[in-house]
Amino acid sequence: MFRFPLVRVRGVPLMSLIAKEWDSIWAFNPDPSDLLISTYPKAGTTWTQEIVDLLLHNGDAEACKRAPTPIRSPFLEIIPPPPVPSGLDLLKKTDPPRIIKTHLPIELVPLGFWENKCKVIYVARNAKDNLVSYYYFDLMNQTQPEPGPFDGYVHKFMRGDLAWGSWYDHVKGYWEAREKRNILYIFYEDMKENPRREVVRIMKYLDLSVSEEVIDRIVDLTSFKNMKENPMANYSCIPKPVFDHSISPFMRKGVVGDWKNHFSDEQSKMFDEDYERQMKGTNIPFRTLI
Ligand code: A3P
Repeated sequence: MFRFPLVRVRGVPLMSLIAKEWDSIWAFNPDPSDLLISTYPKAGTTWTQEIVDLLLHNGDAEACKRAPTPIRSPFLEIIPPPPVPSGLDLLKKTDPPRIIKTHLPIELVPLGFWENKCKVIYVARNAKDNLVSYYYFDLMNQTQPEPGPFDGYVHKFMRGDLAWGSWYDHVKGYWEAREKRNILYIFYEDMKENPRREVVRIMKYLDLSVSEEVIDRIVDLTSFKNMKENPMANYSCIPKPVFDHSISPFMRKGVVGDWKNHFSDEQSKMFDEDYERQMKGTNIPFRTLI
């Protein structure tokens, strides 16, 4: 319905509405107590938000529900059409400490986050599963450009011709900065393999301490099954005409390796060869199967 075109901001394709608001986004000055959760879209943002929210509320789901917005934590840069409120407006109306979510590549993150030494959690997911998940999201999210046929989408992904730009540059940018910027860099596949271990990692990074029982509860509340039923997490609060859940639910499959059901052998080979080129010289330990 809206299907906004992409406009490049400093070379990165962003939705045109965001490009229009770019100066205010870039000028945003966070509080040192604010936490940034950053991802390439579809890498496990919502899952991580849920975990962080529950950790901050000692595992109390009811307390989380009293959060300021139905989207749980404000987006730094989402400026969608109604009924979804602007991320920046929500941010400005919410007192720190805030959990702020973004899909901006690291070079577009407002400098205040680094100057104020804000904590940053970055979640990364293997390229092929990330691509498949983004494909379904672009089908159901009527504000994103039409994804077109899957084969063409694979090429767009390889070229970085999707909203928020190149997956390769995104994951590499945060990876290279992780020590200097004190970024907690976590992987979707690790969360799937051992969610408890990753919840504990996040808890320690945030300098929090909750009981073993609360950790168990958080792991349970943030299982795929429970989040799929949870209106605070499944985005049923954003109905048509923005998200068409009848095309694909937001909480779609939640597995590692779904790419095998979508890539042909030929596409997979071509993608892997290109991947080698684009990721040359990096050692980010991605896993496409667990
Ligand atoms: P799929 O489309 O592969 O199912 P984001 O929140 O960054 O938009 O990411 C959404 C993806 O994370 C979707 O992937 C969604 O199903 C998956 N996801 C969300 N919560 C999850 C959970 N608790 N366990 C596993 N996967 C989850």
